[in-house]
This record gives sequence, structure tokens and C-alpha cells, in this order.
Amino acid sequence: EALADAKPAFPIPAGVYAETVTEVRHYTDRLFRFRMTRPEGFRFRSGEFVMIGLPNAEKPVYRAYSIASPSWDEELEFFSIKVPDGPLTEHLQKIQPGDTVLMRKKATGTLVADALLPGKRLYLFSTGTGIAPFASVARDPDIYEKFETVVITHTCRQLDELTYGRELVDTILADELMGEFAAGKLHLHSTATREGPDKGERITTLIETGKLFADLGLPPFDPETDRAMICGSMEMLKDTAAMMERFGLVEGSNSNPGTYVVERAFVD
Ligand code: A2P
Repeated sequence: EALADAKPAFPIPAGVYAETVTEVRHYTDRLFRFRMTRPEGFRFRSGEFVMIGLPNAEKPVYRAYSIASPSWDEELEFFSIKVPDGPLTEHLQKIQPGDTVLMRKKATGTLVADALLPGKRLYLFSTGTGIAPFASVARDPDIYEKFETVVITHTCRQLDELTYGRELVDTILADELMGEFAAGKLHLHSTATREGPDKGERITTLIETGKLFADLGLPPFDPETDRAMICGSMEMLKDTAAMMERFGLVEGSNSNPGTYVVERAFVD
């Protein structure tokens, strides 16, 4: 019986990295993070994403994952949703330290400092696992050399989904090296929309009413000095990007930097 249950071993496909999981932490029944070894020679810019898969089939399923760790880190971190019948996440959510994760060799993406014109304040607007690329950007000292103020907004449905972001920012500020760069500059605004004191208030509402700026003690949005990165669901991107446009910001890309950039938080 044990033999019949044993999974067939699939060969590692050519041209991809096969890395070892070093840590797994489950936050809620919908969210977990994992860390794995970083391939020697693998380079990326903080905020970029890669394609991740598992060696559990002849032709593995790959999904885009933002790298949540900064470019200087010796390991790679990812923050993932668990989709019950998701072709990748139904298996990925079961990984344990020691397991193998596949990663395609190229990192890419637009949520990078290079795609933004210089400014004073940087807003990193995220919902759900959309905070992942900002966990990378906010741990990169470069960003604090480019901006006086860095604000992460994280909006989720439930309060317990905000833990990852809260611990992230606490860890940055408490860290001897990162804390020195981020002190007085990094701010977190995290809210739940379906329970607790901010119920019903999406990030778009908080911007529109000005409550976000009041809460942070910052001036209203100014296209001359303010920059934004946006990462969340398709709907969230659309609405938040439209709002940035109304404020006079212009979408940027790697080849043509602008005053805001957008990327979808990819899910199964
Ligand atoms: P809400 O609870 O009002 O739907 P999801 O899990 O659906 O991606 O949602 C994650 C968070 O993003 C939730 O707090 C949700 O709020 C919020 N959200 C969903 N759609 C939008 C949108 N179009 N604009 C801003 N926030 C959104």
C-alpha cells in the first residue's frame, strides 16, 4: 500500500533552478509564506517576480510569484495564498522544509524603483498577497535613499490576514541595519475591510476621503512629489490606478519611468 501511494519521482526539467525549502509558516487557512535557498548567480531587482513550480509532474505547472525578500538576501521568500483547487497552490501549501521548489531563471516586473521618476514620498498600495513585492522593496536600503517617506498600505478582508505585514515592518524597524535606513521613513497603514474598526473602507475609499493621509499625518496626494506602486487583485488595480490618474500621476514602465507603476498579485 505504501508503495502504491508513493509519488513517482519526476526528473528536474532542464533550464530551471531546483531549490530547497528552508522554512514554512502558515498565517491563516488562506495565507502562508515560505523561504528557500537562493541559486548561486541568481540576480533580481527588489520588487520583481519569478515563475514557481513543483517537481510533481512531467510538465510542472508554473505560477508567477513576487519575490518578497530583498535583492541582498541570501534566501528567497514568497508569500502565497492557498487556493483549494488551485493547480499549484493546492500542492504548494503542503511543502515542508527540505522539499524541492522549481524556479524559472528569469526575474522580471515593474514594481521596481527604476520604473519610477524621483520623488519625495512613495506609496506602496497592496491588498492581500499583493504586499509581497513591497516586502522586498521595503527591505532594500536603496529605497530609503530615493524617498524621504515610504508608506505601505495593506488592506485585507480579515484582521488576521494583516499579521505578515505588521511583523514585516516591526522586523525592519527593529533590525540593526535596515532599521537605521527605515527609521522615521517607513510607515504601515493596515486595515481589514470585513471586520474591526475600519470595516467597509477599501484603500480607494481611504484615499478619496483623505482618511489615509490624516491617519498618517501626511499631506494630501501631490503628483509633483508623490509616487505609487500598486499590487492587488485585477479590480483593485483598476480602481486604484484610475484614482492615481485622477490625481495626475502617469503610469511608468522599465523603459519609460513614470510616477506610478502597477502589477497584478498573481493567484491560481
Ligand atoms: P472588500 O472586503 O471590500 O472586498 P480580495 O481577497 O477579494 O482580493 O480582497 C482583498 C482586499 O482588497 C479586501 O479588503 C477587499 O475589500 C479589497 N478590494 C477588493 N476589490 C477592491 C477594489 N476594487 N478596490 C480597492 N480594494 C478592493
